[in-house]
Amino acid sequence: MNPDLDRLQPYPFERLAELKRGVLPPRDLPHIPLSIGEPRHPAPGFIAEEIIRHLHGMAAYPKTKGSTELRQAIADWLTARFSLPEASIDADQHVLPVNGTREALFAFAQCIVARDTDSLCVLPNPFYQIYEGACLLAGATPWFVNTTVETGFIPDFEGVPESVWRRCQLLYLCTPGNPTGAVIPVETLERLIGLADQYDFVIASDECYSEIYQNDTSPPTGLLEAAAGMGRDDYQRCVVFHSLSKRSNVPGLRSGFVAGDASILRRFLLYRTYHGCTMPPHTQAASISAWRDEEHVRKNRRLYEDKFEAVLDILSPVLHVQRPQAGFYLWPETPGDDREFARDLYAEQNVTVLPGSYLSRDADGVNPGHKRVRMALVAPIEDCIEASRRLRRMLTG
Ligand SMILES: Cc1ncc(COP(=O)(O)O)c(C=O)c1O
Repeated sequence: MNPDLDRLQPYPFERLAELKRGVLPPRDLPHIPLSIGEPRHPAPGFIAEEIIRHLHGMAAYPKTKGSTELRQAIADWLTARFSLPEASIDADQHVLPVNGTREALFAFAQCIVARDTDSLCVLPNPFYQIYEGACLLAGATPWFVNTTVETGFIPDFEGVPESVWRRCQLLYLCTPGNPTGAVIPVETLERLIGLADQYDFVIASDECYSEIYQNDTSPPTGLLEAAAGMGRDDYQRCVVFHSLSKRSNVPGLRSGFVAGDASILRRFLLYRTYHGCTMPPHTQAASISAWRDEEHVRKNRRLYEDKFEAVLDILSPVLHVQRPQAGFYLWPETPGDDREFARDLYAEQNVTVLPGSYLSRDADGVNPGHKRVRMALVAPIEDCIEASRRLRRMLTG
């Protein structure tokens, strides 16, 4: 067996199940789960209709590269959304469809990391767990960069030693961040692109929460936008990951894309051809219609805005909690240990939240998830409000 499998850590939800084992929550309070980041707003009907209309497509093998129409819809969306220079995203060279960003974020490390060196992948801390597993199974070692309240929840890149940048082959970014919701400023992205040139590494920017933000007029910036702003419209060393899961409430569709540096994507396409991860034709057709529509995305944002407003009204007086710039998580500070807080909340109020320390590792002598919990505001607004009231009740007695 591959010995690197033993380097994988238990997934946070396994640890959460362990934490809750044997605890009996009050029977008269229905369970409200805020632990899993699974979008639960209704999926737009037209996406399902497109799937049905194109089901006959299953009679043919799809191409790894996806259809020209899908890649063009993605290129158009990306160009408009991030104000990229006209025609700088060539649908034939700069875009590949993926079956959700999870598999792509994992596969990307297998494609990028050269196993013959003492390679490092640099990751934010806390982080989406796939980055770590991808890095370990690619034969590299993760180097964690803490994101704390002191750094405005942006990874503390200034504190990364030069010896680490020299060994870095792949830098994962998550912007807007899971779980913090922080958006990495364009100046930081520019500086990271400079470091990627200097030390010869690739940047993988996971931007799957980029469409869930507060104000319709100020969308989060992205890595390709930063690159274009520097005049690098070949997007050298930069690859972004986008998904329909959160943007369009279709996590079960398994549809996203990667875009950026054409020479990297050519190699990634080769990798994917062998890996065998093609997108079903009906998923491709449905994805075209989703990327070409913004109305449902605006409506989705409003639903989250209403929830943040209502929930923060209830929680702010009793918890240190900030409204995130983007995404659908709250990342409040807990009065004591985060695991105890999560267990007590479940035991007393039948509400499940995820302990922050399950999402991060000890680095530089701290675990930045310690004394924080992640609350996903994905449940219906009534449930989010009820869960917040119960949490408040637990804290105020
Ligand atoms: C930061 C982050 N990246 C990627 C994903 C994967 O999303 P999907 O595979 O549905 O595109 C998630 C899902 O929760 C996530 O939180």
